[in-house]
Amino acid sequence: ISAEKQGYKHFMLKEIHEQPERITDTLRGRVSVDRGDVDFGPMEGIEDGWLDTLERIVFVACGTSYYAAQIAKYIIEDFSRVPVDVELASEFRYRNPIINERTLCVPMSQSGETADTLAAMRLAMELGAKTIAVCNVVESTMTREADGVIYTHAGPEIGVASTKAFSTQLVVGLMLGVWLGRRRGVLDEEGGREILEALRDVPQTMSKMLHEKAIYKHIAYNFSDVNSFLYLGRGNLYPIAAEGALKLKEISYIHAEGYAAGEMKHGPIALIDESLPVVVLIPKNRVYEKVFSNLEEVKARQGRLIVVATEGDDDVREFADVVLEIPDVPEYIQPLLTVVVMQLLAYHIADFKGTDVDQPRNLAKSVTVE
Ligand code: G6P
Repeated sequence: ISAEKQGYKHFMLKEIHEQPERITDTLRGRVSVDRGDVDFGPMEGIEDGWLDTLERIVFVACGTSYYAAQIAKYIIEDFSRVPVDVELASEFRYRNPIINERTLCVPMSQSGETADTLAAMRLAMELGAKTIAVCNVVESTMTREADGVIYTHAGPEIGVASTKAFSTQLVVGLMLGVWLGRRRGVLDEEGGREILEALRDVPQTMSKMLHEKAIYKHIAYNFSDVNSFLYLGRGNLYPIAAEGALKLKEISYIHAEGYAAGEMKHGPIALIDESLPVVVLIPKNRVYEKVFSNLEEVKARQGRLIVVATEGDDDVREFADVVLEIPDVPEYIQPLLTVVVMQLLAYHIADFKGTDVDQPRNLAKSVTVE
């Protein structure tokens, strides 16, 4: 087994480090930067021209895949102006969802075997929707039943806490956005090219971030004895705050909550005191100033701040106990880089605590029962 870990202490750490390569695999053969376009190849169950009738997309997913789908919503709506809903599969299947022949249902799943996601997808098909599965496992139940499939090429994921499956799902979300944006005439060649160039640079940028270690060990040493963490993000980083909190609770057993930064004043602010670490995602983007006010509010209440910011942003240092930097990239790329910070943070805290990182208690890699 240890040979398979290729020298890494845990599969999870190995899989975190594999991400640049797996993102490259996911892009390969699908992206033409020159033409500013994406090609997923033929999809058996989807006739030519059907896309022109498409009115709405509904993602169904569970767990980490659900957060990836939420980010896909921001991207797809922005790039293609097609309305997107994202639903927890376990909720979707027990109500009376509005779905018809002009709906595209996208089940998103690492395993392709999650019982709730499969049931939600089958329900959507019964109601007339077309389905394109975003899935990591070839020949899984989901990929056999869907009208079309877009594989994430993350490779086998062993760690129960999902990492590389998530980042490759984000890459597919970006590719779907460009693909639809071009077909719907919202993005022109130049617009598509700009996004795909930025996406092409991600593996290299991400590789550099993976060298960081000391600062995460420092955080683990100083922050692992707390009872609870709050994570704040806004815009397309709100789902990353939720994913960061999920990663931490899954593997370190520390309670953590991911919250939309703008909602802090409606509740979580009551929790803030010197015992609560708050992780704030605040790279330079359209909501930077808004999130900056969260830093001030947390600091005024003696909260401990772990801040994820753009390299060279000195303004946040006045408030932060620790700053974790990401390179300066376009807003739509920020989720891909900030999630690596979330993964490393959770990993090092859990490793410091000595939990069973790859097989956390009570969790299963894939939940095939309801
Ligand atoms: C389980 C796993 C999670 C995963 C979720 C959805 O809860 O522990 O890591 O995100 O299932 O799995 P899927 O295979 O559908 O993405």
